[in-house]
Amino acid sequence: MTGAAALGVAGLLDPRQSMADATKLQTVKSPLSTTGLTPTSYKDITSYNNFYEFGVEKDNPAQNAGKMRTRPWKVTIDGLVKQKKTVSIEELLSFKPIEERVYRHRCVEAWSMVIPWAGYSLSELINWAEPLPKAKYVQFLTLEDASVMPGLREINLNWPYSEGLRMDEAMHPLTLLTFGLYGEVLPNQDGAPVRIVIPWKYGFKSAKSIVKIHFTADQPSTAWNDMAPREYGFYSNVNPNVDHPRWSQKSERRIGAPIFSQRQPTLMFNGYGDQVASLYNGMDLKKYF
Ligand code: MTE
Repeated sequence: MTGAAALGVAGLLDPRQSMADATKLQTVKSPLSTTGLTPTSYKDITSYNNFYEFGVEKDNPAQNAGKMRTRPWKVTIDGLVKQKKTVSIEELLSFKPIEERVYRHRCVEAWSMVIPWAGYSLSELINWAEPLPKAKYVQFLTLEDASVMPGLREINLNWPYSEGLRMDEAMHPLTLLTFGLYGEVLPNQDGAPVRIVIPWKYGFKSAKSIVKIHFTADQPSTAWNDMAPREYGFYSNVNPNVDHPRWSQKSERRIGAPIFSQRQPTLMFNGYGDQVASLYNGMDLKKYF
């Protein structure tokens, strides 16, 4: 990864610490941060999770994900790219300055949080990866390791967990290649060592513990859409006007907020409409939900 070494000198991690035991990330403030919202507590963000490889209950990932080994870790970049590449997590971490971005996080199950993520725009990596003009979509494939993931046997999803974006969505500056939260490396239950975060989409689009980024000409198959296409669309933009077939999407429960302010109206595109609505000009968002 050319430039990685030079950028690494910027010292994204304390050089006295080895990668294996470093937990702090040096971050810079980002203009793309959501301002004015109180972040959800670290405890809630790291103990109320969806990571089905480790079980279906919200506390299962925190209980079980500790066994996942996140070093060494490599990410393969393949499909419609000039040249297939494999990069280590160390190279990814030192490739660009890590920004702190406080984003709203809205799950399709109608709960939400506010999370100070740490990462850089996925577009930086995609530009480096040099996808071919034929590449119209990006697919994210995540770790599948039955020796540490009891959910692979217990839960009927097409493993490995897969998610995908249209290329213009993947290139949008808000789409964050994410390595940390609250200035620390991601805890395993939150998708260590690298996940994706797309703040205007339901949380299930944000694939955790990514091992492959695959460029394709056709819309890739994605875990929840394969399992229940009527309930989980490929786009999954946060939209209070399109209900889930089994529940309303008009409001959400802010985890950890005082009881009287827990129920909040859900915002179109999760409040990021000014930045992203133009990606969907002319599209019927009820059809392409
Ligand atoms: N990624 C993987 N690999 N496996 C999963 O089960 N769950 C998704 C998404 N990414 C999931 C995943 C869902 S449904 C949500 S809402 C978010 O992760 C939850 O992220 P959080 O636990 O950090 O809040």
